Amino acid sequence: MQAISYEDQVFRKRLDARYDELKWLYIEMYGDYDMLSELCDHMYRFYMERAEGLKNRDEKRVSEPDWFKKSDMLGMMMYADNFAGNISGVREKIPYFLEANVNCIHLMPFLDSPNDHSDGGYAVRDYRKVREDLGDMDDLRALADECHEKGINLCMDFVINHTSDEHQWALNARFGKKEYMDRYFFYDSYDIPSRFEQTVPEVFPTTAPGNFTYMSEMDKYVMTTFYPYQWDLNYANPRVFNEMMYNFLFLANLGMDIIRIDAVPYIWKELGTNCRNLPKVHTIVRLMRLIDEIVCPGVALLGEVVMEPERVVPYFGTEEKPECHMLYNVTTMATLWHTVATRDARLLKNQIGKVLALPDKYTFLNYVRCHDDIGWGLDYDFLRCCGMEEVPHKKYLNDYFTGKFPGSTAAGELYNDDPASGDARLCGTCASLCGIESALESGEPAHLKWPSAMGRPTSRDKLGTISGCSLDDESLREAIRKHIMLHAFILTLPGTPMLYSGDEVGQLNDYSYKEMSDKCADSRYVHRGSFNWDQAERREDASSVQGMIFSELKKLEELRRSLPEFCKCTGVRAVDYPDSHIIWIIRESEKGKLHAVFNFGDEERKVQISEEKEVELRNWDFVWHVLRQAQDNTCEDPTNMLD
Ligand code: GLC
Repeated sequence: MQAISYEDQVFRKRLDARYDELKWLYIEMYGDYDMLSELCDHMYRFYMERAEGLKNRDEKRVSEPDWFKKSDMLGMMMYADNFAGNISGVREKIPYFLEANVNCIHLMPFLDSPNDHSDGGYAVRDYRKVREDLGDMDDLRALADECHEKGINLCMDFVINHTSDEHQWALNARFGKKEYMDRYFFYDSYDIPSRFEQTVPEVFPTTAPGNFTYMSEMDKYVMTTFYPYQWDLNYANPRVFNEMMYNFLFLANLGMDIIRIDAVPYIWKELGTNCRNLPKVHTIVRLMRLIDEIVCPGVALLGEVVMEPERVVPYFGTEEKPECHMLYNVTTMATLWHTVATRDARLLKNQIGKVLALPDKYTFLNYVRCHDDIGWGLDYDFLRCCGMEEVPHKKYLNDYFTGKFPGSTAAGELYNDDPASGDARLCGTCASLCGIESALESGEPAHLKWPSAMGRPTSRDKLGTISGCSLDDESLREAIRKHIMLHAFILTLPGTPMLYSGDEVGQLNDYSYKEMSDKCADSRYVHRGSFNWDQAERREDASSVQGMIFSELKKLEELRRSLPEFCKCTGVRAVDYPDSHIIWIIRESEKGKLHAVFNFGDEERKVQISEEKEVELRNWDFVWHVLRQAQDNTCEDPTNMLD
């Protein structure tokens, strides 16, 4: 039953090309032709409502499907309120993004969610309404329009696994309306929940233990994998799938360029399993991709799969049946921090070797820090061979980053410290974890101490080598070098770099969350502080910490977008170099080779990168050095290319 009487030729063509697969998957999941035809009708409606400008953007991207893989793509994620008060405030800050070379803004959850039970906005009460204090849909459209005019992409979260317990469906379910209860997982007794609990791990073992919440007024249990006020949606119900897809299309039509599918591995539940990454999750993501390609093909899907690499990669799907356009490079991020704590780059070398061996059509989003904690999901089989056992090693990492380990300058906080497993995750801004906060400590609260002039500005030496910074205080100098080096590392990798707002000026931890009743239990807020514009003003002073970091990152980003060695078609490989403190990556274009060498050690190093060239690295420093073969086969002085 193909209810296609859609007149628009573009829509028809896209639907016709995908209808068989859409139907096959949908009917296999739900067996309901009426709901399928309702879905197609709504897709058509959303397509017809889509603004002309966005349709043009779609067509352009259909003919240039690698648009999000370009080397000038640089993201920054931020909370609208922390960054600029509200959504209009973010729009007013567009010149700042342009100055920082940012052309993709990930605006953290901004949809309506209850103040006190919001999980940072990841408990959505209304998918079609902006949180009141942040503005309204018109502000959002205005932001999207202006971003697009200025060449900036917009990204938002689509919280797909659960709704807030104050969402209209949840309110109706609380009244016992079956139709709405069927959109969640309700149980009359603890029998089935207890069976789930035997196989399903806890996401927040300390802040929200268990996977179910007892609703006393209903005398029922409801599934709540995350917080008790985030009710898991039941995707076995086609009404849930359809309605959530309508929400997705509604949001896409606001002018989003990238939609982050939040916590996607969790969306399918089956008794007797761990309820993670089940095959049906992939069917749903594939369906979503098909819907996206039919209605709004200019919108890229970014999957949030914070799991081990074997679980992440399948979310790219296959060549014929792609799922997500982009995925987070989460293991590299965690391994990067492991390397900071151990000074041992063997695991990182191994990890990036694995990433580089993947087909280069896969696009990873590379990041140093984000709004969430760092979970120690490392390759412990590999580490065991290096003499590091999982439990004591996690303890070491947490002791190191909370500054307990002798000699550590890191200032992080534990997150979801699980007394049962002894496991804990870690929070803190990049600058604080790198030791900038403790280097600045002198008895005052750390976030108030922020020197304006700290010595000589950074420089680039004559050989076309760009390296870290120079300040007078050695511990501060080292911490800033580390901060810049970690960012240089992610800028070197293939994929799309995403900065965490504040890191471009080395923002420190903010401990004020401890005074807030709705936040104090969740240490992730330590790295979710308000953006400090007074401090950021100093970015123009190249001798300030902010200026040092901002200007170095800016230089790196500009090199990244201008050098052919950063083009997405470049071959990238890691050199098998015997020193365990050193990582050496080569990006090779037809014109030449960029050698990126990183020293994760406390001592200086010299690395011979070619017969003619040896690079010197201070501790916690890196070089990007371009070598180009001139026609007569001698080495060209690369200075010209870098200046
Ligand atoms: C994602 C978000 C995280 C949130 C969770 C539940 O993992 O990144 O911040 O707590 O989803 O929605």
